[in-house]
Amino acid sequence: MLRLNCKNSDCKIIGDVHGLNLEEEFNNSAEKIADIIRSLNQRKDKPGEWLQWMNLGYNEETIWYVKEFASLVEGRFDNILVLGIGGSALGGMAVTEALLKPYWNFLSPEQRNNLPRIFFLDNIDPDAINGLLDVLDLKKTLVNVITKSGDTAETMSQFMVIKDLMEKVLGDDYRKNIIATTDKKMGILRQLADQEGYKIFYVPDDIGGRFSVFSSVGLVPFALVGLDIEKMMSGIKDIDLELKNTDIHQNIAAQYALIHYLMDTKKDKNITVMMPYSAKLKYIPDWYVQLIAESLGKRVNKNNEKVNVGLTPVKAVGATDQHTQLQLMNEGPNNKVVTFIRVAEFDTILKIPKIFEYTGIGYLGGKTINDLMRAETYSTMVSLEDNQRPTLTLTIDKIDEYHVAQLLYMLEVQTAILGELYNINTFDQPGVEQVKNYMYALMGRAGYEGSASALREKMGIMI
Ligand code: PA5
Repeated sequence: MLRLNCKNSDCKIIGDVHGLNLEEEFNNSAEKIADIIRSLNQRKDKPGEWLQWMNLGYNEETIWYVKEFASLVEGRFDNILVLGIGGSALGGMAVTEALLKPYWNFLSPEQRNNLPRIFFLDNIDPDAINGLLDVLDLKKTLVNVITKSGDTAETMSQFMVIKDLMEKVLGDDYRKNIIATTDKKMGILRQLADQEGYKIFYVPDDIGGRFSVFSSVGLVPFALVGLDIEKMMSGIKDIDLELKNTDIHQNIAAQYALIHYLMDTKKDKNITVMMPYSAKLKYIPDWYVQLIAESLGKRVNKNNEKVNVGLTPVKAVGATDQHTQLQLMNEGPNNKVVTFIRVAEFDTILKIPKIFEYTGIGYLGGKTINDLMRAETYSTMVSLEDNQRPTLTLTIDKIDEYHVAQLLYMLEVQTAILGELYNINTFDQPGVEQVKNYMYALMGRAGYEGSASALREKMGIMI
């Protein structure tokens, strides 16, 4: 099971100025936290609460349906191309990077057990799109276009470019190479997919993009590249029992959330750094950045009072970012909480050969790269402790479907708890909608003409 060690945020370790008296704080907030957990679990099935993601670990029907599709298309495609952005891409990228063999797309078909390569297009850089199209044989590519709203301009414009090319390359058969993941009832993609006859997977109601990784948004790509989605579900189910516990002393999501909340509101530390000591986990912080930033960065609270709250998420990877960000973490402003993710057991034990024995690097010979990673992790932890910087450590036993799913699910639950502590709507994103509306106006979408000329004037000043 995923474990959290919070002792290095405690005042007994890092001092009263920067540390919290955790025992006291947990006791003081025990009732409030219990109420929040109870309330989230009571509201989770209620339409409009956007908490359906809390049920995804139990969605056996979707698992069955997704697995059936994956076995139906097995062996037919060399490539999976996911088109999506934000919550429709980041979970998929984080989990496939974590769980597939490293450099998956560079391996031979035999090394990949004849499973397809996987690519994510989550940007609209024309050079990048064109470059990827040079790499892919569209005849052997299954395109999975994912957009819950069904009309996100970035995703749909990519789709329009690629669909057009596919039709040219494949003729009428192109439809067999496209699947759509979108809302059940609403949106342009839903209509198009029906008209065109694409296979459709649905994003259930009341699940926002950044909480959708264990819906068909993530599960379809995962199953297509051979990941064990049932194991993910059992990981979630097992930790869910713990995360439903209303006693903060037994609930790591509640502890993680409360520490971040108090560090922000009592100790002026509103930056949350996520730093896995693992290259395979390197995109988990990207996913976390969106989860934290979009969920918690809000102008108004639930009473419509202006609050301008939020935590600023920062991504880092150990040991790489010891050589980029550690200086700042240790000696810059003491305004961050750093979360380390420690992997207890790597798949590989890699020996460092005993060479160059009589040089300054001779001490490395005979040890393992694993020893070095462990030494780097603890050295960073202790150096931050020496400098009274609060840190948390999440330990994941192994990087596999079971444990990675637990990690992501726990971070989702803690985000929901944090949203309740800040008393804000965790699940909307009005600040993103505003930009979308401006973009529609500039691109000439019907209904947005009014703001276009005023916008152009402002742009003239800016550029
Ligand atoms: O978390 C969110 O809701 C957003 O990041 C969305 O996932 C993102 O804007 C993409 O939206 P859609 O899936 O509708 O294309």
